[in-house]
Amino acid sequence: MAPSRAICSARITLQRASTITVPQRRCLSAYGYEQAKVLALSTLGEPKDVLKLHSHSIAPPHGDLLTLRFLASPINPADINQIQGVYPTKPVFTTALGSTDPIAVGGNEGVAEVIAKGGSVKGVEKGDWVIMKKQGFGTWRTHAQTKADEVVVVKGEDREGLKPEQVGTVSVNPMTAWRMLQDFVSLKEGEWFVQNGANSGVGRAAIQLAKLWGYKSLNIVRKRETGMDELKADLMSLGADAVVTDEEFEAKGFRDQVKEMTNGGREPIRLGLNCVGGPLVNSMAKHLAAGAHIVTYGAMSKKPVSLPTGLLIFKDIHFDGFWVSRWSDKNPQDKEACIKEVLHLTQQGKFKDVPMSPVTWNHDTKQDELVDAVQGTLEGFRSGKGIFVFGNT
Ligand SMILES: NC(=O)c1ccc[n+]([C@@H]2O[C@H](COP(=O)([O-])OP(=O)(O)OC[C@H]3O[C@@H](n4cnc5c(N)ncnc54)[C@H](OP(=O)(O)O)[C@@H]3O)[C@@H](O)[C@H]2O)c1
Repeated sequence: MAPSRAICSARITLQRASTITVPQRRCLSAYGYEQAKVLALSTLGEPKDVLKLHSHSIAPPHGDLLTLRFLASPINPADINQIQGVYPTKPVFTTALGSTDPIAVGGNEGVAEVIAKGGSVKGVEKGDWVIMKKQGFGTWRTHAQTKADEVVVVKGEDREGLKPEQVGTVSVNPMTAWRMLQDFVSLKEGEWFVQNGANSGVGRAAIQLAKLWGYKSLNIVRKRETGMDELKADLMSLGADAVVTDEEFEAKGFRDQVKEMTNGGREPIRLGLNCVGGPLVNSMAKHLAAGAHIVTYGAMSKKPVSLPTGLLIFKDIHFDGFWVSRWSDKNPQDKEACIKEVLHLTQQGKFKDVPMSPVTWNHDTKQDELVDAVQGTLEGFRSGKGIFVFGNT
């Protein structure tokens, strides 16, 4: 067991983007053990009922191990589904972190800094940033220890000028948008795709990537009582070609508008992206060109997708599903290349990250603050994605 007495030592970090010297406290126990905290569950359920803060210590790394200090970890809808037990990959419960009962650390995405490495680690240095290669890492934690081959390394030049929040949200949503735009239909420049949930992280990424690649986007958002015009303007500023509410999309006469937008169908809509589900998907399918694909990647409304028989038979509309975890496991090198490319586009100002609601996680941050942030993700019409940003840990 590691000694529990913690010594907080001052560490000076030079932040490249601003060239401001920022002192960061680092809490070490005697003998170089890191004092870590994790937000973890011991049973499946609602986040507010099952998430607890747990402390443990991490020994100095040896062999191929890295010790990481987390910088930013988002709270994605899938993380909540996983805690509820309704996601295909289940949390991995363990007593390895010194808890009496087995616990699983929440969170699947994030960025961490390498603060120490074992003697046989090659190609990763202290100060490098890393992103987890696979789902299920448990990223809602101040520190972790892992094998060097389980992370994608982001060296200084690849993150120059970027904030941890930008690097920590690159590996799920932008990747999902990228693959769905590329892997189901070969859209030609000037051709359209239609998507619902267009203001989600994935939707925003799809708008921007499509713009860069010369595709046009018809974007559907949920009608909201306030801020509708601002939301539409925001998505247009990202490069959307049209933004409508679900009500406008389903209204009589919208077909004529689609005809006009698509130049009488000469610029066809050949792809649909769906993260909402329910009857809206059938309405989307009606606007698609023959042979088009609708790719389902989420179910935010919790309503099923029912397949329209006539469109299946007479227009050969294809219904597909996409899961970025499956894709990433099969294509680790492509994933790394994709991450670097999105970071590069972000550095060039060609790709904007999503609006975020940061929650600062310091060494003494209370459990309730962290749990509330996770539970709040279940509410709709949010102004920004919840993200833990680690301060003095
Ligand atoms: N299959 C995959 O590989 C994969 C990868 C990434 C994400 N996803 C899924 O994609 C979806 C979006 O994820 P994200 O991280 O991009 O989300 P996000 O940024 O947190 O945004 C959530 C989106 O869902 C909408 N929404 C929330 N509740 C809704 C409801 N009851 N009915 C209709 N829309 C609702 C929100 O619209 P309002 O602003 O109107 O509330 C917003 O557009 C999630 O289902 C997630 O699990 C899947």
